Amino acid sequence: MIPLRLLFEKFFLYVFVYAFTTSFFSNCAGDEMQLKKTEPTFAEIALIIYKNCTPCHRNGESGPFELMTYEDVKKNINKIKFVTQTRYMPPWPADPNYTHFTDERILANEEIELIKRWAENGAPKGNAFVPSPPLFHKGSFFGKPDTVIKFKQAVPIKGNGTDHFYIVKLPIQLKKDTFVRYFEFVPSQRQLAHHVNGHLINYLKDNKKDIEKGLTFALDDFKDYKELYRQMNILNDDGTFPVLTPNTVYYLPGYAPPVYSNGIGGYQISKNAAILLKNIHYGPSNQDVVDSSYINVFYGPKPKRPIFETQLGTFGISKIEPNLVLLPNKIQTFHTKATINQDISILSVNPHMHLLGKSFWAFALSPNGDTIPLIKIKKWDFRWQYYYTYKQPVIIKGGTTIHVYGTFDNTNKNPFNPNHPPKMVTEGEGVRSMQTTEEMFQFIFSYLPYQPGDEFLKPD
Ligand code: HEC
Repeated sequence: MIPLRLLFEKFFLYVFVYAFTTSFFSNCAGDEMQLKKTEPTFAEIALIIYKNCTPCHRNGESGPFELMTYEDVKKNINKIKFVTQTRYMPPWPADPNYTHFTDERILANEEIELIKRWAENGAPKGNAFVPSPPLFHKGSFFGKPDTVIKFKQAVPIKGNGTDHFYIVKLPIQLKKDTFVRYFEFVPSQRQLAHHVNGHLINYLKDNKKDIEKGLTFALDDFKDYKELYRQMNILNDDGTFPVLTPNTVYYLPGYAPPVYSNGIGGYQISKNAAILLKNIHYGPSNQDVVDSSYINVFYGPKPKRPIFETQLGTFGISKIEPNLVLLPNKIQTFHTKATINQDISILSVNPHMHLLGKSFWAFALSPNGDTIPLIKIKKWDFRWQYYYTYKQPVIIKGGTTIHVYGTFDNTNKNPFNPNHPPKMVTEGEGVRSMQTTEEMFQFIFSYLPYQPGDEFLKPD
């Protein structure tokens, strides 16, 4: 006996095959009208563009031109066809055949094909109703912030054709302790801002008299951190280091911080606090500019479950094997691993290498031998280092080991190699390893100590 459900399925399959073949043959029979109908119009293309391109290609964002209207898209159609065929755009280095993340921007093969056909047909607008472009809040992914923290002084950046790395201190003085749901960095020079990473400093009661004093920024060539922190008046009044909450402010073009409800994540800011933007990286330019960026602050409830963060590799909890010494004209692979001793729910991961990175792979091996995929990047791209957030947390049982492999290409074939001929490159030390010409191999991840039900957690 065939179960009833199967019969039903078969029935629909037959109807589908029948419908498909009849329409196919009637198309083939030279029914021109019917054929034209199936050609894409802007109405279909617009949906692909709005979702995958417009968030960055709009006024005030990082994309070099706008993709909002039919005219914008038509004008750039040859370029669009090219960058989608080659999968250069939208930028998304993580391999979608390995793991999936929220806000994943990847075109399906059919979408790329549709864009190509539309382009080759002369990019017609068509008569179908075109939905309007999505609404964006100016200067924010989220809407109107509760407050804004501005740079105290604009940072002058020389147009000397080199990268710039700098530190900025933004003092915060509040009437009372406050809870923040998230911070959003808004760069004033979108085309140049590559990457920003900032920490929150909460000063304990009475150990900081005047946070406003001291240097507010330092550009490029600082070497001695302790001395720099003294000049910037970052240290506690008794000279000790204050406690930082790392990576509270993170920026990458097109990146929006993941946000969870129900008191998951968020920060407490004490009355006396500061944001220290420690790794601001601006790309080279030939024009002098000033950076007067700011941070949008969105208040929230008191965090019930703070998010933790840790890292393997450079500056992290695990050693790189062998040592990260990149010999000239060599492609080399390095490994680092750490065993996690408690049950955790991993929310996001952030692979980090510099210009010589070639590929990156992280997975976990549970004590019973299961492999848990975390992330694979087949073709490393220094410019697009996202914090990748899982659609639902990856649950890691205590006793599980995280393995990370990184391959580096220190040959002339690597188009991003800054040295010709290639020379030996190492991790460097302290702040200097932030320089893109030195290397890093890091796997950062954010997590919650596991609680039952975390399997179903979703960012808002
Ligand atoms: C995450 C932000 C982001 C998204 C999403 C994005 N772009 Fe871009 N796009 C950029 C930036 C930044 C540049 C300039 C730097 C570069 O070329 O890498 C750029 C460059 C381009 C270029 C110019 C290439 C050249 O050198 O002339 C084209 C064409 C383009 N994007 C089309 C698209 C299309 C089509 C989509 C969607 C399918 C898209 N972009 C999605 C940020 C983005």
